[in-house]
Amino acid sequence: MRLTEAKRDHYRKLAKEEGYSSRASYKLLQINSKYKILRSGDYVIDFGCAPGGWLEVASKEVSDSGCVIGIDKKPVKTSLANVKFLCMDVFDVSMEERILRLCGRKGDVVLSDLAPNVSGIWEIDHAKQIDLCRRVLEMLPKILARGGTAVLKVFEGPSFKNFLGEVKRKFAYVTIEKPLASRGASSEFYLVCKNYLA
Ligand SMILES: C[S@@+](CC[C@H](N)C(=O)[O-])C[C@H]1O[C@@H](n2cnc3c(N)ncnc32)[C@H](O)[C@@H]1O
Repeated sequence: MRLTEAKRDHYRKLAKEEGYSSRASYKLLQINSKYKILRSGDYVIDFGCAPGGWLEVASKEVSDSGCVIGIDKKPVKTSLANVKFLCMDVFDVSMEERILRLCGRKGDVVLSDLAPNVSGIWEIDHAKQIDLCRRVLEMLPKILARGGTAVLKVFEGPSFKNFLGEVKRKFAYVTIEKPLASRGASSEFYLVCKNYLA
């Protein structure tokens, strides 16, 4: 068994033991433990939340005084009291309005683990991923409070440099993170962005 497969298996097993819906939970747990992005009472918007691993982590961290809105085009079953779910495509033009209506105010944290269905053709997958990230950036003025935080999944590729420049113009602090739970061989990594300049 290759090291990357062993690592995937390890986190899948751990997720089962610890009651998380997916091994993806460990990526957010590791990012949060390093950058302290989720706090009790926070309002969190989680794009690409199915099957629900990040929702579970965020729900616990924000506690009963906080709220998590999950969005995905695939259905998600959740019984967590502080979690609300919207089954929608992020490109839907009414997305921001629907989020605001559910949240009641702008969020403190925006998470995006959005990923396209991978075709295996690296340039195409990268371009689709950047489109998803740009859509999230486009929505920020309406859904993220000034001073807020965002965590965005990105695939490495030719458009990354330009995209990073766009993100840096919107946040005072931006860093690139590859959590241990993210497969070694995959081209994904995360941008951790703090202090939204609105
Ligand atoms: C890697 S999975 C997310 C895993 C999740 N963070 C977890 O912890 O369980 C990526 C998700 O992005 C969603 N997605 C991709 N494109 C989307 C779109 N245009 N609108 C809504 N969701 C989308 C997929 O349906 C998929 O569930």
